[in-house]
Amino acid sequence: MGEDGLVAAAATAEERAFEAGLRPRTLAEFVGQRKAREQLSIMLAGARGRGRPPDHVLLSGPPGLGKTSLAMIIAQELAVPLRLTSGPAIERAGDLVAILTALAPGEVLFIDEIHRIARPAEELLYSAMEDFRVDVVLGKGPGATAIPLDVAPFTLVGATTRAGLLTGPMRDRFGFTAHLDFYDPDELVAVLARSARLLGVELTPEGATEVAGRSRGTPRIANRLLRRVRDYAEVRADGVVTLDVAHAALRVYDVDPLGLDRLDRAVLTALVKRFGGGPVGLTTLAVSVGEEPETVEDVAEPFLLRAGLLVRTSRGRVATPAAFTHLGFDPPDQELGRSQVPPAQTALFSEPGFRAEAAPES
Ligand SMILES: Nc1ncnc2c1ncn2[C@@H]1O[C@H](COP(=O)(O)OP(=O)(O)OP(=O)(O)O)[C@@H](O)[C@H]1O
Ligand SMILES: [Mg+2]
Repeated sequence: MGEDGLVAAAATAEERAFEAGLRPRTLAEFVGQRKAREQLSIMLAGARGRGRPPDHVLLSGPPGLGKTSLAMIIAQELAVPLRLTSGPAIERAGDLVAILTALAPGEVLFIDEIHRIARPAEELLYSAMEDFRVDVVLGKGPGATAIPLDVAPFTLVGATTRAGLLTGPMRDRFGFTAHLDFYDPDELVAVLARSARLLGVELTPEGATEVAGRSRGTPRIANRLLRRVRDYAEVRADGVVTLDVAHAALRVYDVDPLGLDRLDRAVLTALVKRFGGGPVGLTTLAVSVGEEPETVEDVAEPFLLRAGLLVRTSRGRVATPAAFTHLGFDPPDQELGRSQVPPAQTALFSEPGFRAEAAPES
């Protein structure tokens, strides 16, 4: 992974193996998400008491917040095996039939990225979820026959980063939905303290706070930054991650105090300095930082939006006053009004200073 991916929310292949060792194993070990955790724990206890599999569970939320971890915990708490697959892996209905008919009673089937399941397989999943039965169609045309097959009672745990892409019938078949939210800094401190213990890293409370603050509310990013900071502590210091060590390390890795990385800052700086805060079209903005529009939109913007540094308007991207301040500039007075004026007048509201400074950067 290059430095630029340091605060990306998605996991790299190499990272997945590493993450396995840091995953919380029980609900009690799972930090944060208090509401979802409490609801799940009641539901699981109820099911255990009745000796029946619990309702199907849908876990939704951005990458790196603990969906896969929770799915594994559910199986663990029910003391049953977890069968793992993913939406993109199920291309044909037959793939799903093979998985479903191999399930033993009570098992948990985890389908990651469930919004990407192929439509014919999805329809088959409806009857499996509802009636624990699938109809396998043999042959084609008028001679085709449907053979009903029983499926052992199971619990489906679906995970998705894009709950909005799920079809209505799919969503309706989950008895329980948990939406995972970004973590507070103090929750991330707890995640970091736990990870540091598991990794044998000495981490001071101030060091943990410093790393947590730059982790974009995401445990995966917190764990990743911890590993980088540990490297730095071992190579350039005495191995202890203090405030100063964390600070110096994150400076070396180009992760700023808000958790912005180089691309985020480049986008924001271009918006503020070259375009006077906007509005500017996505393509123009992307060209000015030498990236594809998709990269800017999918990689940089989600966090800039969430951090309140950038807004999308019908006429393009606009930097908020917080963005100016974060980059060390005075926000222009008419900042908020700008997005309402027609493009021709935009220049009137631009800070001349910013335009004058708009030297080529990349
Ligand atoms: N609540 C938590 N407490 C402690 N560690 C956590 C928690 N949530 C996530 N983590 C850590 O973050 C890492 C990423 O979590 P996980 O793989 O469960 O995220 P995910 O939501 O499934 O992400 P993706 O959408 O990319 O699949 C895990 O390895 C785990 O160590
Ligand atoms: Mg996952």
